[in-house]
Amino acid sequence: MKLWAGRFKSEIDKKTNDFNSSIPFDCRMVNDDIKGSMAHATMLGAQGIISEADRDTILSGLQGILDDIASGALEIDMTAEDVHTFVEAELTSRVGDAGKRLHTARSRNDQVALDVRLYLLGKCDELTTSVRSLLKVITDKAELYADTVMPGYTHLQRAQPITFGHHLMAYAEMFCRDLERIADCRKRMNISPLGSAALAGTTYPLDREAVAKTLGMDGVTNNSLDGVSDRDFVVELMSACSLIMVHLSRFSEEMILWCSWEFKFVELDDAFSTGSSIMPQKKNPDIAELVRGKSGRVFGDLVAMLTALKGLPLAYNKDMQEDKEAVFDAVDTVLICTDTFTAMLDTISVYKDNMRAAAAKGFINATDCADYLVGKGLPFRDAYKAVGSLVAYCIDNGKTLETISLDEYKSVCDMFDNDVYEAINLDMCVKRRTVKGGPAPECVRREVAAMREKLSF
Ligand code: ARG
Repeated sequence: MKLWAGRFKSEIDKKTNDFNSSIPFDCRMVNDDIKGSMAHATMLGAQGIISEADRDTILSGLQGILDDIASGALEIDMTAEDVHTFVEAELTSRVGDAGKRLHTARSRNDQVALDVRLYLLGKCDELTTSVRSLLKVITDKAELYADTVMPGYTHLQRAQPITFGHHLMAYAEMFCRDLERIADCRKRMNISPLGSAALAGTTYPLDREAVAKTLGMDGVTNNSLDGVSDRDFVVELMSACSLIMVHLSRFSEEMILWCSWEFKFVELDDAFSTGSSIMPQKKNPDIAELVRGKSGRVFGDLVAMLTALKGLPLAYNKDMQEDKEAVFDAVDTVLICTDTFTAMLDTISVYKDNMRAAAAKGFINATDCADYLVGKGLPFRDAYKAVGSLVAYCIDNGKTLETISLDEYKSVCDMFDNDVYEAINLDMCVKRRTVKGGPAPECVRREVAAMREKLSF
């Protein structure tokens, strides 16, 4: 029997009922729904809108449902229309008439808006914990490899010397911004829409602030139409989730490259790799590839939500039920990807010698060589030209800047002297890059320390 049975002459078509129903996915909000109802009932009692006896009956009935779901004694009825209907029907079957008073001055429209907020607040906290764990592993590794020289790339071509620690800290910065985005979106999420009712508020003397306070929320929405139809907080969270996936996906891509024989900068632990069914030699970075691949579905969830919202007239429309599967999928995906990636990163082996060998081959000290001439008084453009012809000479003759003689140096510019070898030494090149944000080991250590302080690690 539907909530609206009084208005209708026949039952809803079975397939249509399944199509309309949201319980298969909104059942995960059951605890939040009950929490919201308890706060609402408490306020109705305090305001004299229902009797104190009814309030107490409702509260103990709801607590019983909460306990029975937790213990497994009560199963959620998957034929109910949605989680709100289920809880109300279960309450009424347990406590009778008082249960029918719970929905006074409330609509499922403000109820669902509240439930989604409460549920996602919890998810914001889980996401924060998960991203923080990743940041812990990144910062620890960055400290460990603060002196490990590797080539930095642009266009995937060897460019200038950096350290592995410096490279890792670039990701730490990204994930740190992700944490800030989650915290920021959490602020706007932590506001109660209850009291907006269906769309036009209510004539009952509600104390909306009291409900928000009971729920640990920071305030109440200002406009009843917006209260029931706002899903910006869902979009904001999915957008934060999408950026986390962008960062995880870029990191995964690098892991995949670094694991290849062409790079061999790192190796994944066997526990986070897979083999091939036919090629005995293979050790594949499937986990990193899956994380990279799953980014697409999170972006898809975000676009689905934006599209669902963009043409909706105020206030509530059933299209908004589509928010749940999209945002639940986005959050679930980010959590599993972040946790798995963290465990994978924590157990990598780092091949410092291969990083250094790659750094030594690509003329990544050419800028430093030019800067050396600048130090001797040559304008940068002229220095750039001189070193350019030296590099061309080295390539033609199978030599490197480290191995050519001083005479060969002098053939392009007589300002070169014996101290050039020190100037192009890779460790020195990195050590001298002490500008704030630079790859010098001391800077990386400082960046790690600042990050740890910020995150209270
Ligand atoms: N299951 C619905 C949703 O998720 C609950 C709100 C239904 N309200 C309504 N007027 N049909 O959006």
